[in-house]
Amino acid sequence: MNILILGGGGREHSLAWAVMQNPKCDKLIVAPGNAGIAAIAECASIDIESGEDVIDMVERNSIDFVIVGPEAPLAAGVADRLRDAGVLVFGPSRAAAALEASKAFTKEICDAAGAPTAAYGHFTDAAAAKDYVRAQGAPIVVKADGLAAGKGVIIAETVAEAEAAIDDMFGGSFGDAGAEVVIEEFMDGEEASFFVLCDGTDVLPIGTAQDHKRVGDGDTGPNTGGMGAYSPAPVLTDAVAQRALDEIVKPCVAEMARRGSPYQGVLYAGLMIKDGAPRLVEYNVRFGDPECQVLMMRLGAQAFDLMHAAAEGRLSGMTVNWAEDHALTVVMAANGYPGSYEKGSVIGGLDALPEDSRNMVFHAGTSQRDGKTVASGGRVLNVTARGDTLAEAQQRAYAMVDAIDWPDGFFRRDIGWRALD
Ligand code: AMP
Ligand code: GLY
Repeated sequence: MNILILGGGGREHSLAWAVMQNPKCDKLIVAPGNAGIAAIAECASIDIESGEDVIDMVERNSIDFVIVGPEAPLAAGVADRLRDAGVLVFGPSRAAAALEASKAFTKEICDAAGAPTAAYGHFTDAAAAKDYVRAQGAPIVVKADGLAAGKGVIIAETVAEAEAAIDDMFGGSFGDAGAEVVIEEFMDGEEASFFVLCDGTDVLPIGTAQDHKRVGDGDTGPNTGGMGAYSPAPVLTDAVAQRALDEIVKPCVAEMARRGSPYQGVLYAGLMIKDGAPRLVEYNVRFGDPECQVLMMRLGAQAFDLMHAAAEGRLSGMTVNWAEDHALTVVMAANGYPGSYEKGSVIGGLDALPEDSRNMVFHAGTSQRDGKTVASGGRVLNVTARGDTLAEAQQRAYAMVDAIDWPDGFFRRDIGWRALD
């Protein structure tokens, strides 16, 4: 089969790496891709949020199957355009992608499905939002309704902080994403990510992971897109995962189908777990980045068969063959991230590193200049390793990190600490 993957981050590098291992893959194009992806697949520069551009690429290259990596093309309706044109695609419709694109929509689905989540109010003006905050008290969570690149959530420790966040959002600091605001009960507990594939009807769990959102060691400093991850997440025991499936994911997927927007693709449930009980923090309609990297490392070539089955509506009867091991990824980011950072610094030492089924450096933001790999983004490399234990995976990943020569980058030293504590 000829396959097209949309996206160009570490997530898409790991998807491409898994797909390339599957003998059913004859040709792989990744758009736009990056310097790491270019070493294993053809990269093409197109506007991946334009259905026309993507269809044009599909037709010119006889593509049989499109895998959508990030949320933006899904929210823009690219999967709908492809399906309308008769192209097989992995990824939800625009209507189903509202599970990530609108927090208020997700809360409404949870209500209808009876799925446990934080109590909330949904507001279109600041005065009513502030009344609600004053009535509830702090801590409380203020969220821009729409897509805000992971930055639209304020955990307010005081009522005054919540009121300032409300003014900020309605004042336009998140653009259209903040035109509506959801205010939520603060949930205490341990966070973990639960990934399932859906084909509209059936749901297949494919793994668990834990991200590290804060920029600094010990979970300090501002939030980022994620500074490292590991899989599996011990807090998501089989019993907790079963509850998450039965109480949250399956009822919500059934509710989506009942509303005429069946969900097809990967559904990533961000969970808060306390005393063995999971509650939903949020849904994402794509793989997590960098959680995908550790999942792909453990799934390998079968990831392609599973995504293909989801797209064709044949998940029933599919099973996942798990390697009983652990994977861990360390994100290397450009100095300054998540604030402003320089592009173009040279990264050395990559050629000497092993690349096999147990050790991989996935590229998140790199390009090639005069035969050298240079940084071209905030999150730049995802140094990933597997081990029989999490401690072994961590040790291997950091051994690779330490062999990379990049003075303009930084990383967290403590990825995995929660599970190893
Ligand atoms: P979200 O974009 O909804 O994932 O929110 C970003 C992060 O904010 C989450 O990963 C949580 O760490 C935190 N968060 C969001 N909602 C809540 C909540 N209701 N209670 C506690 N923490 C939350
Ligand atoms: N790593 C968090 C996310 O992909 O949303």
